[in-house]
Amino acid sequence: MAEESLSLLAIRPEGIYLDATAGLGGHTGLMARRLTTGLVIANDRDAQSLEMAQRNTAEWAGRIRFHRGPFGELAEAVAEAGFEKVDGLLADLGVSRYQLTAPERGFTFMADGPLDMRMDQSTGMTAADLVNHTAEKALADLIFQLGEERRARKIARAIVRARPIRSTLHLAGAVERAVPRTGRWHPATRTFMALRMAVNDEPGELDRLLEIGPELLKSNARMVVISFMSIDDRKVKQKFRALAQEGRACILTKHPLQPSEEETSENPASRSAKLRAVERI
Ligand SMILES: C[S@@+](CC[C@H](N)C(=O)[O-])C[C@H]1O[C@@H](n2cnc3c(N)ncnc32)[C@H](O)[C@@H]1O
Repeated sequence: MAEESLSLLAIRPEGIYLDATAGLGGHTGLMARRLTTGLVIANDRDAQSLEMAQRNTAEWAGRIRFHRGPFGELAEAVAEAGFEKVDGLLADLGVSRYQLTAPERGFTFMADGPLDMRMDQSTGMTAADLVNHTAEKALADLIFQLGEERRARKIARAIVRARPIRSTLHLAGAVERAVPRTGRWHPATRTFMALRMAVNDEPGELDRLLEIGPELLKSNARMVVISFMSIDDRKVKQKFRALAQEGRACILTKHPLQPSEEETSENPASRSAKLRAVERI
């Protein structure tokens, strides 16, 4: 939904834009190419991704300032670039295809790798710390709440029995032996998602984005959020509604935009994407 995001941001060539989730620089590049004297502040908490984003957007290097940090530090990212507020903010939540597929990052059960899952590998606990040191009941609650996994208790029991869990395939195998495959998806899909969300405090990070983001917008500036999970989309919808009710913003997407059939057939991972946008008053 790159085109939809860009057109909802209504980029002005001299504007200042914040890409809160630069990833590999896809959206950052699309924004930068529309600018003349403007600037994109490209933020991500993942150092490796930022290096790739820098290479991928080298053509527009003069129009981009990179910043590494979590959503809680977005105000600092804007200040470091020499501004207080921006003309638009884009957040494309979740993990990138690179993060999801690189075995050494530990997000995937399609290949063996260390059970890491941290977007920012310089700090915090890994998924291995979590599965090996969390009590069974707390682990079950986490998998149930964050992964919306109905078989969480069985899975948590199997994980505890298989400890110490050493790698992604070790974990995936333990889950697969405990619960049978039902649909198309690997039985460990929701468990991996829940662990990833916990390791990176994704619920807390989204709260911080929704708190800080609107405050960084100039009047008439827009904020566009793309989310992939229903719990995230619900939060975005509620926050945008609250801003509208307080008379601080106007909702630009009465219903969330979703990818076209063409886009989901080219990129199946986009099938659950929902895009919402507001304009500050
Ligand atoms: C779906 S990808 C973005 C892809 C990007 N729009 C592109 O075009 O390449 C999400 C990115 O957001 C980053 N991210 C997720 N949560 C974050 C947070 N709380 N703070 C900073 N970056 C975050 C991830 O590291 C990942 O690189």
